[in-house]
Amino acid sequence: MRQPLVIANWKLNGDVSLLHEMAAQMRATQASRTASIVICPPAVFVPAAKDIFSATAVKIGAQNCAAQAEGAFTGEISGHMLQEAGAEYVLIGHSERRALFAEDNKALAEKVRLAQLAGLYPVFCVGETLEQREANDVQAVIRSQLNEGLVHADFSRLVIAYEPVWAIGTGKTASPEQAQEVHAMIRAWVAEVAPEVAQKIQILYGGSVKAENAETLFSQPDIDGGLIGGASLVPSQFDAICQAAKG
Ligand code: PGA
Repeated sequence: MRQPLVIANWKLNGDVSLLHEMAAQMRATQASRTASIVICPPAVFVPAAKDIFSATAVKIGAQNCAAQAEGAFTGEISGHMLQEAGAEYVLIGHSERRALFAEDNKALAEKVRLAQLAGLYPVFCVGETLEQREANDVQAVIRSQLNEGLVHADFSRLVIAYEPVWAIGTGKTASPEQAQEVHAMIRAWVAEVAPEVAQKIQILYGGSVKAENAETLFSQPDIDGGLIGGASLVPSQFDAICQAAKG
């Protein structure tokens, strides 16, 4: 049985007062929750988040890390630095990083490797665009993202998130059947490359998950929880999504 996992991706949003509000909400409902929870605020808030959530079971993650370990890379933050600051997880390959910051699978593979070397759990994100879905390319696109981005990965310390690009921030969510089909395909891929972890690895769904659709998505056999953007900025909504992820 896989432990359900729900991850908040705050993107370029939030502040210390939202961390306090979220922590109060999560503390109040902790006893009725079975899922593991990770909050990924902007990197500068990782130390504050670690401190503010210390009395809860909530873990802290970052949204990105450098593709280099150290050196003359102005503005970058390494996996090791994030780990020292209090992060345990890091999102890698979110579609916004791929599309807006031109991150390719080769750089992402290096990020995964360095994040794991630093002791972090990478949450490796994959997903197709609407154009690719309409051209029936979903399987080929996802398999090449997995093959290239996870070439150096240790599968025993990894989470995969399926986020169809057309569902992120759009209010359009994949149907539970559409999502399940891709999740099963991802798990079958893991079974090819790392058979011993295929039934253990957590595969999360992301893209317009809300309190209203979370339960049917999370009840699919290969969906182990969610990666939540917009709805993770409202503590009561995020909490309701977390409650929908049952073990
Ligand atoms: P959304 O974002 O929940 O706002 O669609 C999900 C994500 O980008 O991780």
